[in-house]
Amino acid sequence: MPCLVVVGGFYGDEGKGKIIAYLARKGNPSIAVRGGVGPNAGHTFTSDGKTYKVRMLPSAALNPSTRLLIGAGVLVSPEILQSEIALFKAEDRTYIDSQCGIIEQTHVDKDLTEKHLRTDIGTTGTGTGPANAERAMRTLKIARDIPELSLFLEDINSSVNYALDNKQEVLVEGTQGTFLSLFHGEYPYVTSKDVTASAICSDVGIGPKKVDEVLVVFKAYVTRVGGGRLQNEISAEEARARGWIEFGSVTGRQRRASPFDMDLARKAIRLNSATQLAVTKLDVLFPECAGVTSYSKLTSDAKRFIENIEGETGMKVVLIGTGADLNDIIDNRPMAR
Ligand code: IMP
Ligand code: MG
Repeated sequence: MPCLVVVGGFYGDEGKGKIIAYLARKGNPSIAVRGGVGPNAGHTFTSDGKTYKVRMLPSAALNPSTRLLIGAGVLVSPEILQSEIALFKAEDRTYIDSQCGIIEQTHVDKDLTEKHLRTDIGTTGTGTGPANAERAMRTLKIARDIPELSLFLEDINSSVNYALDNKQEVLVEGTQGTFLSLFHGEYPYVTSKDVTASAICSDVGIGPKKVDEVLVVFKAYVTRVGGGRLQNEISAEEARARGWIEFGSVTGRQRRASPFDMDLARKAIRLNSATQLAVTKLDVLFPECAGVTSYSKLTSDAKRFIENIEGETGMKVVLIGTGADLNDIIDNRPMAR
C-alpha cells in the first residue's frame, strides 16, 4: 500500500489523528504529508498516557523515522508550526512547501470579528478563511516570503512523487471532513476549501493515478461544531446522557451530536472514492468494547453495528477504534492479519 490517503467522512473530528498516528507507528512510512485547510484542524492522539494535538504537523509526528511534510495547498501559521516542531523535536524532519500560504494576525482578527464568519458560519476563528480569500486575490504571502521558515522549505510535490516512484510508503493526511467541503458540503456552512480526497491529493501535489487506497474515517456517531444542518441532532442533555459530549480541540466549543448517518456515509464514500473504511470510538456506543483489539472479542451488538455499516455501504471496515490510546484499535486490514 504505497500511497494511502486518509480523509474524514462526516464533519471533521472523526478521529483521523489517532488512525494516522497508529498507521504511522505500525507501517513506518517514509513520508507523512498533510493536506487540508490549515491550523483550523486539530488532530489528537494519545500514546503511553500522553495526549498530543497537532494543528500543523502530520499526526505521524511521534514516529522519528517518518519525514513530516506539509503540502502547498495548506495554510501555515509560522508560530503554531514552530511550536509543534519544538514539541516533537522535529527540526530535522519537517518540511513545508515554499508555496504554502501564510496566516497573519490580520486574518485571525478578521475571522474573529466579522459577523458573517464568527456568528453566522461559526468558524474556528483561526484566520484560514480570510487567508484563503487573499490567496484567491493573489495577495497572500507564501512561505518563501518568510525568512524564519527558510530552513524548512522544500518542493513537497517533488518529494512525495519521488518517494512513490521509488515504492516508498506515503501517508497522506486529510483534515476537516467531507461535509465541510466548500464545494460538496452544505454551503455556506462549510470551510474555505474543498477537503475531499481529490483536493487533499491536489494540496500535496499528487494526481489520482498515484493513489492506492482511500481510507474514509467515520466516528460511531456524528458530531459537528459551528452552524449548519445536522440531521437527527440530539439535545446537549441527551448527548451527555449517552456519553457523546465532546469539545472542539481548536476552539473548545461543545460539539453538536447525532447518531451515525448511513446516507451521509454513503455519500462520503462516493465523493472520496473510498476503498476502505475506519470507524472510531466504538467503545463510546458499546462500553464493553473498550480496549478490545480483536474483532472476535467484540460484543454481538457491536459486531452488528459494524456489519450493518459494511452491509449498507458494501465497503470493508478495516480499522475500528476502541479507546483513546493508539493501541486501542482492531486492525482488520488484509495485510495486517
Ligand atoms: P473555518 O474552517 O474555521 O472557516 O470554519 C468553517 C466551518 O468548518 C465551521 O463550522 C467550523 O466549526 C468547521 N471546521 C473547520 N475545521 C474543522 C475541524 O477540523 N473540525 C471540525 N470542524 C471544523
Ligand atoms: Mg479535530
